Amino acid sequence: MYQDILKNYKIKENPVILAIESSCDETAASIVKNGREILSSKIISSCKEHIRFGGVVPEIASRAHTAAISIAVEEAVKASGLTLGDIDAVAVTYGAGLLGALLVGVSYAKTLAYSIKIPLVPVSHIRGHLSAAYLSDKELKPPFVSLLASGGHTAVIIVKDYTEYKILGQTMDDAAGEAFDKVARVLGLNYPGGPNIEKLAKEGTSSVAFPKMLHGNGGYNFSYSGLKTAVINYVHRFEMTGENYNRADVAASFQSAALDILAEKAAEACSEYNLSTITAGGGVVANGYLREKLTALCSKRGYKLILPEKILCTDNAAMIGAEGYIQYKNGNFAGMDLNASARVEL
Ligand code: KG4
Ligand code: ZN
Repeated sequence: MYQDILKNYKIKENPVILAIESSCDETAASIVKNGREILSSKIISSCKEHIRFGGVVPEIASRAHTAAISIAVEEAVKASGLTLGDIDAVAVTYGAGLLGALLVGVSYAKTLAYSIKIPLVPVSHIRGHLSAAYLSDKELKPPFVSLLASGGHTAVIIVKDYTEYKILGQTMDDAAGEAFDKVARVLGLNYPGGPNIEKLAKEGTSSVAFPKMLHGNGGYNFSYSGLKTAVINYVHRFEMTGENYNRADVAASFQSAALDILAEKAAEACSEYNLSTITAGGGVVANGYLREKLTALCSKRGYKLILPEKILCTDNAAMIGAEGYIQYKNGNFAGMDLNASARVEL
């Protein structure tokens, strides 16, 4: 029985983990050594298949994962120079995300772990985003402030220890990435909205005064719905009267209104809690404007900033390997009854 294999299992000192991620539209596999060293990382995206629908279509994503998963895993193993026999554990994203999409990764990981008799490590996608920072700075140790900004989550968090978190504040409505995707649609930009708004914003200036969000009196919480509605109303007003407006200026103004506050709140948390390091993760952290803003603020205030490379901010499996290592070391193994979960707590 698989459970008997786990009972007598000895946790390895420097484990090699095969990580699998399939929560949204990226099918990804990675081999990570000791939680810090990426031996290989493969990402197969079905992003292009969703463009004409204006957003990720769950059924299309699931089918794409089914077609891509064994290719991603085989390529990751091959590129690492290792064989399946060298792998100590399989880590897999079990949530949060699209249920059908997650199930493809979870089923594949279960089958693999069972057949080669190694532990199966369940990983939260959200924690994965936070753990991407460990891959970028091999010396990074908690405590630090982490800014999480993705399509599903926006939060300022204190990582007290490898498995201990304190959420200082989070969005009360839309996530930052979600707001980018919705505003992009109103501006006639394709999915995914974030990178397309960033590109358009480069041609404009931040000259439209959209409302700043929950500044000062909101603690560490965020709200994107007011800003999103303000942009939508602004665009609709011009469209109704047939007047021209500058789309690039709207993109630039939305971008700064949406992102300035993220950087400011992260810096504020660092000061309030007497910490000296800020890390960040999630797709929105791939945004160049946010990265510059964080870099400038941290250099001004003397904080150390760990910004994962852009490819480690958007969905990938290496971050699942980094977080999988932490869970592996804690002996957090799953059985063959592991299920996917659309929502997970941090
Ligand atoms: O972390 P991620 O890849 O998936 C989730 O866990 O949600 O984040 C995806 C989100 C999308 O909403 C996308 O528009 C946004 O991250 N995003 C960006 C940029 N790249 C991706 N937002 C702003 N600027 C970008 N360059
Ligand atoms: Zn993500």
